[in-house]
Amino acid sequence: MPELELLPESNLRNMAAKTLSSHRKADPCILVIFGGAGDLTKRKLVPALCNLAEQGFLPQQFALVVVSYTELTTDSLRERFAADMKKFALRPVNPSIATRLIGHTYYVRGEFGEAATYGNLKAALSDIAQQDNIPSNHFYYLAVAPRFFGEIVKQLGAAGLAQEKNGQWRRVVIEKPFGHDLESARALNAEIKQVLDERQIYRIDHYLGKETVQNLMMFRFGNGIFEPIWNRRYIDHVQITASETVGVEQRGGYYDTSGALRDMVPNHLFQLVSLTGMEPPISFDANAVRDEQAKVLHAIQPFTPEDVLTKTVRGQYAAGTMDGKQVPAYRDEINVNASSSTETFVAMKLLIDNWRWADIPFYLRTGKHLARRVTEIAIQFKRAPFHLFRNTPVDTLRSNRLVITIQPEESISLRFGAKVPGPIMQQGAVDMCFNYADYFGSAPSTGYERLLYDCMIGDATLFQRADMVEAGWSVITPVLDVWQALEPRDFPNYAVGTWGPKEADELLARNGREWRPMAAAQAAA
Ligand code: BG6
Repeated sequence: MPELELLPESNLRNMAAKTLSSHRKADPCILVIFGGAGDLTKRKLVPALCNLAEQGFLPQQFALVVVSYTELTTDSLRERFAADMKKFALRPVNPSIATRLIGHTYYVRGEFGEAATYGNLKAALSDIAQQDNIPSNHFYYLAVAPRFFGEIVKQLGAAGLAQEKNGQWRRVVIEKPFGHDLESARALNAEIKQVLDERQIYRIDHYLGKETVQNLMMFRFGNGIFEPIWNRRYIDHVQITASETVGVEQRGGYYDTSGALRDMVPNHLFQLVSLTGMEPPISFDANAVRDEQAKVLHAIQPFTPEDVLTKTVRGQYAAGTMDGKQVPAYRDEINVNASSSTETFVAMKLLIDNWRWADIPFYLRTGKHLARRVTEIAIQFKRAPFHLFRNTPVDTLRSNRLVITIQPEESISLRFGAKVPGPIMQQGAVDMCFNYADYFGSAPSTGYERLLYDCMIGDATLFQRADMVEAGWSVITPVLDVWQALEPRDFPNYAVGTWGPKEADELLARNGREWRPMAAAQAAA
């Protein structure tokens, strides 16, 4: 076979743009955003639609309908969107695209629980379909408080807005949190499945919109050299970190009923666990990929009450200074209970009971107001089996480590030992590093572009299936139960700007391991 030619970097940079024209065109459709007058729409969804339109991914026949109880009209919504686009789009929006998008935006005012809202929506959709000449493919995006998920789906069903007929599709995108424990997630799945078929449901997890997360599959299964060592024989353990420098900001009300465990683990972190741990799927079909992800989640060893005490750690931040600014304690945040037991940090040790991963720990940690913003997967390999250099200054051999950084940079680096130049044998740790921006440029993206596009082409690979959501909750529900029964006695137990409570270090130290050392934040991180 001939050697593949090395693509010049500028060609790589142009590749993303070029593939678009040859890619599958999205179906003409109407996007209906419930709760579309809120933050998610202006900060993420509208900027993502602008990016898709700029790149030629948005169908020409496209309209946006916002349903909300806010006092607005189509005209005032359009004015608002025009201003939001200037403020929140990631780059200046081409005026013809802005005019096109805004000109096809409509508003339906109503309460989510009232049948009349859906009657008005139905009439509006039929008018828009005629007037803008769009076939009736609808996707409904539920950017609303979780208590409305079931109700909206039920009302869509009752109004005949969820039924697919004459080849016209109906899809429902549901934001997180999908339930607050196993029982509520099961109940919600059962409720929405009375109206919708599983293939119509797109449970969104915005982590799957991140390029480097998607690249995990390409990295593992598009290369021949990694998969043979991707197992318990060569890997010592895996560390997954999603640390944030921000606190709970304006979301105290939500966060105090959720906490770090519910907010980040069964969804975002378990996506990373399953993509790291899964077997190669038999195809790139949505269900083939998700079957393998689900198997990993099902194989996570259940936590007994005793495991919860020894394999999980929770923390809550105390007041302090970060970047020279005074930061209040979690309990002093707006809309947070002054004696709250809600955790803002969690670390845990997972074991995956299958042939590939038996006895290989996956350590997870996530939290607010930590030392640095970083999301990464670090694969720590075992040491070389034999110490050849015993009679030299190299007293111990270091192990190799592969780090997949998801944010803020997108990169993959491999650490290995190299001989330090000079007459004596000394080992130094060096990194081979691939940085996305160096090869592909860094077109700003919200992370929602790919997910919205996939909804329009009907590809659910990057969305959570019912069984995956339930598997995630079944792992963490025993932890929630024990934590609820045993009040934390030492909260607040970590200072802002650190890596969390000392127990998180002890969790690894008990097995003779440590978290990968990382420098603290640069001011803007
Ligand atoms: C959200 C959580 O799902 O993810 C937030 O509710 C968290 O609390 C956010 O801050 C993190 O996302 P990202 O993309 O900034 O890592």
